[in-house]
Amino acid sequence: MRVIVCDNYEKMSYEAARIFASQIIIKPNSVLGLATGSTPIGLYNCLAKMYENGELDFSEVTTFNLDEYYPIAHENDQSYHYFMNENFFSKVNVPEDNIHIPDGSTDNPALECKNYEKEIDRYRGIDLQILGIGQNGHIGFNEPAEILEPNTHVTDLTQNTIEANSRFFESIDLVPTKAITMGIGSIMKSKKILLLASGSGKKEIVKKLLSSGIDTNIPATMLKAHPDVTLICDREAYED
Ligand code: PGA
Repeated sequence: MRVIVCDNYEKMSYEAARIFASQIIIKPNSVLGLATGSTPIGLYNCLAKMYENGELDFSEVTTFNLDEYYPIAHENDQSYHYFMNENFFSKVNVPEDNIHIPDGSTDNPALECKNYEKEIDRYRGIDLQILGIGQNGHIGFNEPAEILEPNTHVTDLTQNTIEANSRFFESIDLVPTKAITMGIGSIMKSKKILLLASGSGKKEIVKKLLSSGIDTNIPATMLKAHPDVTLICDREAYED
């Protein structure tokens, strides 16, 4: 795992944006894996600026988001559909038909998961996947467990994740307890992976990630088996 340590959040976001932009410039019809949460917002802002300045064109790209709460309506302002539209898709020119986000409003989640995985495979995997990391080491909503699911699946959120995400909700009781998420195998099919970590709240997990072997109780350590992963973090998230 290559590690890039940046002075602060802005520089981390810009560094990630430069790599993301290179991918699109080299391959305009790239398949890009996107993440939600606080961490990638700076990256999305940088990419939107590059688009505005005429430096980047998203007209041929395809995107797959990592996960979505379940059940949740697309219009719910806590849904990842809403988040992606607010923070990214409304600011750039990704064609609507090329956007994939698990459907949290489906009444057949098992079929949704199966179709989502099939669609990733139809594109022969993701060229560049952006990931955040949970304080408990989750990637997507692949929570710590003895056994990790390879493919897109419905999962229960751990109490730790519900608490971490409650900051976005009026009350903790409103945080959904389930999600649809790409599995570890879906993520590992990506050709390149950029893992982002920012702030002192991530210091402990980043340290554990870098010092541990592959451990299903720290799902991000699975990335150590991938040949092309770059961790970009800010100084607050990284301890020398
Ligand atoms: P965060 O979430 O970016 O809001 O810290 C990361 C994650 O839980 O994957």
